[in-house]
Amino acid sequence: MRGYLRGALLATAFGAAFGLACGAAGGAAWAATVKVGVVAPFSGPFAMVGKTFKEAIAVYQAEHGKEVAGTTVEFVFKDLDQANPAQSKALSQELVVKEKVGFLAGYFFTPDALAVAPLIDEANIPCVIFNAATSAITEKSPRYVRTSFTLWQNTVPLAEHMARQGIRKVVTAVSDYGPGIDGETAFKTTFEKAGGQVVDSIRMPLKSTDFAPFMQRIRDSGAEAIYAFLPAGPTTLAFVKAFNDNGLKDRGIKFFGPGDLTQEPDLPALGDAALGLTTTFNYSQAHDSEKNRRFLARHKELFGSSDTVTFTSVGAYDGVEVIYRMIEKAGGKVGPGKMDGAKAVESIKGLSWESPRGPVAIDPDSRHVTQTIYLRVVEKEGGRLINKEVAAFPNQPDYGYKAGK
Ligand code: PHB
Repeated sequence: MRGYLRGALLATAFGAAFGLACGAAGGAAWAATVKVGVVAPFSGPFAMVGKTFKEAIAVYQAEHGKEVAGTTVEFVFKDLDQANPAQSKALSQELVVKEKVGFLAGYFFTPDALAVAPLIDEANIPCVIFNAATSAITEKSPRYVRTSFTLWQNTVPLAEHMARQGIRKVVTAVSDYGPGIDGETAFKTTFEKAGGQVVDSIRMPLKSTDFAPFMQRIRDSGAEAIYAFLPAGPTTLAFVKAFNDNGLKDRGIKFFGPGDLTQEPDLPALGDAALGLTTTFNYSQAHDSEKNRRFLARHKELFGSSDTVTFTSVGAYDGVEVIYRMIEKAGGKVGPGKMDGAKAVESIKGLSWESPRGPVAIDPDSRHVTQTIYLRVVEKEGGRLINKEVAAFPNQPDYGYKAGK
């Protein structure tokens, strides 16, 4: 397969060189379209993610146009409904070989993003991660850039906040894969440094749906509070519901976690049970800024509602910003065989701009987004549940990048 990819890429490079020669003779410019392949869940339990990516891309293009540096940017979507690295690689390869994309983007689950490292290196194209949040991903290729968050980034300020609140004994409960393990490690390291104690560390299979046994273990741990991470969507919903239904909330165990637990599309289903949940995160729909209001208004104008706008929306929206800037810096010379993917990523190191989430910048070392992390509490405003931002921790880097190396 790798040989096939190489052959296809050589043919593309030859085609590009041939096109250039003809173009020079005929006075034509570079091919005026570049394709961006987006891999994400568009069906199944996490279908909401793909919808938020697609809609945010449309909002960006409605605001900025479909053309940059004389090049039309066209998005091609592939449905990957769950964490499945082999399938991620196959779909991404199809995008590179058949669609001849100049960029790969999207990727909700960590294993799906990790699986394409050899492919983006071989094809020499950038990969803009809209979500997958395990710190180690960007270490695997210089062609990765990420516009979401990492578990380390959200967890360090949360653990410090919990310690400041006088909480001393905490149980951690996380999904047993990359981001969960990062969250557990970030929490334990930070909280213990601040004088707290982690009394039990629970790892739950990624596909768990029955949380009752874990609730028993949380109760038995004697902890005053829980730090929890599960990937946003049906899993977080079921976990928060189990926490309440099994009487842990009534026992006074305080519930904390990154904001994946209380993302906006899930709040109506959680209902009043969500009131008071405290999280740290990079984006709240309720973020008070002109940029965010404009973003939401444009979303509503295009799609009739902005109720489901969430962190995956801004991950994609800012991801498109980064892609546009790479195209601009390359003077429109983008696409397979025309662009050095590593150089393109190099060109946006240190880039800063205002996102609907607040000020952001691409860290030149980690190629991950530096941003403000907010402390939020679920409250009711005008009959709607919202993540109200109550404190801000500016300029948070990915504390997990090369952690322990
Ligand atoms: C991930 O797999 O990296 C991931 C998925 C969903 C989240 C956060 C991280 O909410």
